[in-house]
Amino acid sequence: MIPKQRSLQLSPHERDAMRAACQFNARLLDAVRPCVVPGATTESIDRFVHEYTLDHGHTPACLGYQGERGPFPKSCCTSVNDVICHGIPDSYELQPGDIVNVDLTTIVNGWFGDQSETFLIGEVSDTARAVTQCSFDSLYLAIDALTPDCKIAVIGEAIVKEAAKYGFGVVDKYVGHGIGRRFHQPPNIPHVPSSDTYRKRLSPGMCFTIEPMINAGSGEAGNTERDGWTVRTVDRQLSAQFEHTILMTEDGPEILTLTQLGPAKGHKF
Ligand code: MF3
Ligand code: CO
Ligand code: CO
Repeated sequence: MIPKQRSLQLSPHERDAMRAACQFNARLLDAVRPCVVPGATTESIDRFVHEYTLDHGHTPACLGYQGERGPFPKSCCTSVNDVICHGIPDSYELQPGDIVNVDLTTIVNGWFGDQSETFLIGEVSDTARAVTQCSFDSLYLAIDALTPDCKIAVIGEAIVKEAAKYGFGVVDKYVGHGIGRRFHQPPNIPHVPSSDTYRKRLSPGMCFTIEPMINAGSGEAGNTERDGWTVRTVDRQLSAQFEHTILMTEDGPEILTLTQLGPAKGHKF
């Protein structure tokens, strides 16, 4: 019998298809950058994402994505300040001092590319900057910990260690995920170590996301709001997130969603 895991390992041809999907998604994130400014509504960011994606013949994965309480109504997620994830673009105008995570996922020829960045709007508080820096650095520290066939736990270990330096909380309710011909598939990629992650390994050919959500206060996430999607910190303190889609290769991790214009490894916010 073919082990179940086999289907999660991509062929050379399939790896190229994922590279193409993720590279388009990264280009889209670079293109949307100028829209993320004071006074812009989160809806205007969504409109740009939607039109740019369609203009290039691709499909926004978020639009109509089925959740437990219905379909997601927009083409990207915009999570402002105390929103941990899955914020729905609306008429809110970004203000100096805000932090906003823009999370983009595109379907290109049937393959999914998924990534996000947190943007600082104008001058922000020391805490806003620190929580953003911590999320960014913890993502790269987790990637640096990856080796062919490593345990999934190395990811959570790296992220928890970095957050502890600041006394920040790591969200454990929402996790990274396998990705490919589906938006979310096995394995789960928790950002804190769990017994499951000490049993499972990341083999060459596997594609997955790492997307640490770091809270200035408690790592606890509140219940999903009445819109069916928005998730806030329980203590209403700030939350920041960065996400990459990664391919494990025989030589180690390959980040598929690198941008040309965004913050690169080592960036200081
Ligand atoms: N992009 C998110 C992730 O990183 C998922 C968003 S699902 C949506 O997995 F429906 F809210 F868009
Ligand atoms: Co994701
Ligand atoms: Co995402």
